[in-house]
Parts: sequence; C-alpha cells; structure tokens
Amino acid sequence: MERRRRNFLVSIASITAAAGAVIASWPFLASLRPSARARSGGAPVKVDLRKIEAGHQITVAWQGKPIWVLRRSDAMLQRLTKDSLLEILVDPESRVSSQQPAYARNPFRSIRPEILVTTAICTHLGCVPVFRPDIGARDIGGDWPGGYFCPCHRSKFDFSGRVFKAVPAPTNLVIPPHRYLDDDTIEIGVSEKLT
Ligand code: FES
Repeated sequence: MERRRRNFLVSIASITAAAGAVIASWPFLASLRPSARARSGGAPVKVDLRKIEAGHQITVAWQGKPIWVLRRSDAMLQRLTKDSLLEILVDPESRVSSQQPAYARNPFRSIRPEILVTTAICTHLGCVPVFRPDIGARDIGGDWPGGYFCPCHRSKFDFSGRVFKAVPAPTNLVIPPHRYLDDDTIEIGVSEKLT
C-alpha cells in the first residue's frame, strides 16, 4: 500500500515537472517559428493589374521594400523613347546589369511596355521618391518631363526609373524579379522565364 502511494506521488511529480518544462520553453520554441510578418515579407506578392488605371500606380510591399506598379499611359510611353529625354539620362540602355533582370533591359525596363514594376527606393541614399507625372512642374524645374522625383537631394528618374544626369543618384532604380501569371496578374519575387 505504502509503495503504491509512493509510486503515485512520484508520477504526479514527474508530470508536473514535464509540464513546467514545456511552459518554460514555450517562448524559446515559439521563437524558432518564423513570424507571420517574416513569412509574408519574403514571399512573392501577386498584383491584380485590373485595379490600376492608365497613368496611375499602386504601391505594394515585397521583402520589406515598397514596390511601385505603374500602368503607363500612351503619352508616357511615347516620351520614353524621345531623343530629348535619352540624352539627359545616365544609363538609357540599362547597361548596369545589377539594376534589372535581363528581361527588363529595354527602353521600358519591363516585360510589357505599359506595366512598370520598380523598387521605390532612391539609389542615392535610400529615400522614397515621389511619383510626379505633372509635366513642367515648377518646383522640380520647368523642363520636367514627368517621372519620379526624390525630395531628399533632388534626384530625378523617368517613367522607366532611369536616372537623370547631374543628380546625386548614381544608377537607375532597381527592377525586382517578376513574372506574369496571366494577362491581368503579375507575381513579384519570381523571375519571368526567358524563352
Ligand atoms: S536619397 Fe534620393 S537623392 Fe539622395
């Protein structure tokens, strides 16, 4: 009888100790799982292009960075190949290969001309530029052809994210990997396969 009682008490003590160990280690175990934010931060992001009107853009987050998706209007597209613009750009041919995937090395820096996908981070010191489609904006300069303006130190980029000459930013904006899932959906974070 006495032995059975002792065994019973030992069992209770073991269970209590085991439960205590699990509770004590919970924060540690939880820390081993990636947080929801970490899981979503690096995951590819799908964008429904039907929500973006011509001449407008939206901002999405990918890997903790702001990404612009711009649907360029016909007028914006026409301006991108004008000689008067090309001669004031540092790298109109996108020769700096680190700034875009190979499939975006063209005047539009995109897979399809009308859709631009670009990182919204200035290549000077990392400020977020401002979308300024207003041609001739006086606060930027009367000859402003429209594009992106960084208010931190006045760097300028065109509607393809190509940097202007004589500004602090050294290179074009970075085009992130992306691909088309269908005519109206892109996925940012996964590269288009080259054919
Ligand atoms: S951070 Fe954009 S111009 Fe300096």
